[in-house]
Amino acid sequence: MVPDDLENLLACFHMTHSTRQYHKRDQYGACIRTVADAGKDVNAAFIDMLLRVVEHTHVLPLLKHRQRLLRLFDFYRSTIHLDGEITECGVFRGVSTLMICQFWLTQESDFDGTGYHVFDSFQGLGEIEEEDIEGAEGAAKLNMMFAGNFACSIEEFRRSVEEFPGIAIYQGWIPSRFNEVADRRFRFVHVDVDLARPTYDSFAFFYPRLVPGGVIVRNDGSWPGARRAIERFASEVGVEPEVTETDQIALTKR
Ligand SMILES: C[S@@+](CC[C@H](N)C(=O)[O-])C[C@H]1O[C@@H](n2cnc3c(N)ncnc32)[C@H](O)[C@@H]1O
Repeated sequence: MVPDDLENLLACFHMTHSTRQYHKRDQYGACIRTVADAGKDVNAAFIDMLLRVVEHTHVLPLLKHRQRLLRLFDFYRSTIHLDGEITECGVFRGVSTLMICQFWLTQESDFDGTGYHVFDSFQGLGEIEEEDIEGAEGAAKLNMMFAGNFACSIEEFRRSVEEFPGIAIYQGWIPSRFNEVADRRFRFVHVDVDLARPTYDSFAFFYPRLVPGGVIVRNDGSWPGARRAIERFASEVGVEPEVTETDQIALTKR
């Protein structure tokens, strides 16, 4: 890694920290250690992309999330030779969207977001249901389970991804607008909606629309309801889910 990159990343972090209240003081030390650790586990190209993500979203992904972004890159790379478009369900401020679009940009220098579809309520999580809570009792995850968590306005998301104006944005509760892409085929789908019902609906809608070899991946397996929803769907279609060391869960279309 180029030392300047680390300096830039630190500078971006300071900017992020001073403009975003949700970075609590006690997270500051952990964030700095995470950033300082960056050179050990990521390559320079990835740091470059991460810097742009921090600059545009004002979010600095922590170590665990950065490792997931790297793994996401691997999944994405396994589909670049395929035809088909890309979808993301659950985008928040656009960290994973920007990472994937930048990966795409490295393949196609004139990529402007066309062929990239995003679905989000832009109102955060919906109502929490019994199936989300089961198995989450006592876990830190429970603190994040409330309607409205991860709310980000569509305007803020648009600003984050302004360098990719071709991205198609479908605002609404999943799956209310899925029918608008029913005739399309996809090579890669990223699902990051956390709760069981929209996770199941996303897998049930998009898995059949993947081209052979296409991948659908859930970002975080530690939400128990969403995890069970994927396992249920996978057994219904007879596919073995791949669970990564970073706790992402993927199905590959045969
Ligand atoms: C954890 S955040 C996504 C994080 C994002 N992938 C990133 O890289 O930062 C979850 C997102 O899912 C959206 N979401 C959750 N449940 C939803 C539902 N039922 N319908 C539509 N969007 C939903 C939220 O609005 C939020 O933007």
